[in-house]
Amino acid sequence: MQISLAHQVALITGASSGIGHASAKALAAAGAAVVINYNRQAEPAEALARQIIADGGRALAIGADVSKEDDVERLFRQTLDAFGSLDILVANSGLQKDAPAVDMTLEEWNTVIGVNLTGQFLCARAALRIFNRQGIREGVSRAAGKIIHMSSVHQRIPWAGHVNYAASKGGVDLLMQSLAQEVSPQRIRINGIAPGAISTAINTQATEGEAGQELLKLIPYGRIGDVEDVANAVVFLASDLADYIVGTTLFIDGGMSLYPEFRGNG
Ligand code: BGC
Repeated sequence: MQISLAHQVALITGASSGIGHASAKALAAAGAAVVINYNRQAEPAEALARQIIADGGRALAIGADVSKEDDVERLFRQTLDAFGSLDILVANSGLQKDAPAVDMTLEEWNTVIGVNLTGQFLCARAALRIFNRQGIREGVSRAAGKIIHMSSVHQRIPWAGHVNYAASKGGVDLLMQSLAQEVSPQRIRINGIAPGAISTAINTQATEGEAGQELLKLIPYGRIGDVEDVANAVVFLASDLADYIVGTTLFIDGGMSLYPEFRGNG
């Protein structure tokens, strides 16, 4: 089945690389106009926008730090100025600052919570205000707006040495569910995606060479994921094919969350 997001506008945060980049590409290929948000890396975001436009699509790269309220407000204002509406938010920006808990600095804690959790709240709030004003755009989508929160298997799997990251993603899970409970009556559809080990810049060390072989022991399906594995699900969840999917997290992890260490054990 062909998915069309024609006449819809999607904003993807953290889209200069990795899952966000692939999601922006996939949403544009499905016909959406895309806002490619980046924080520091302008060039890859702008290059993607140029490529989408060259292919006949609509795209704009906008810099903004999602942990800063003023930046987020400006990002959504510029989105409306450029494209006139907003239908899909992929709250994707995320980072890791790993350290054993005893050595973790408050700055490392705050940075990760600020981007991964507060950033998702600020972006969701800005999107909800727009969706409420817009209402359902007849003939465009059955929902008044869709939000996809990018979480992680670590919203469920505890992760030693990454307490800031795991706490942020645990927070994303209940942020997503509570928002979905709150705004579903306005026909706003909110869901999450929990990727496992996907090959991106965030985990190059863990996914390559010997470390990569060790990591495979945690993935029953036997391969590291690709960004497209996640991007395809983003397009599906954003589309009306998923119109009755509300407040759910889709795990895209090759079975990592199935506790494979227990195979033949205990
Ligand atoms: C992290 C990756 C990690 C994966 C599985 C993701 O959320 O960002 O670094 O490889 O979870 O542990």
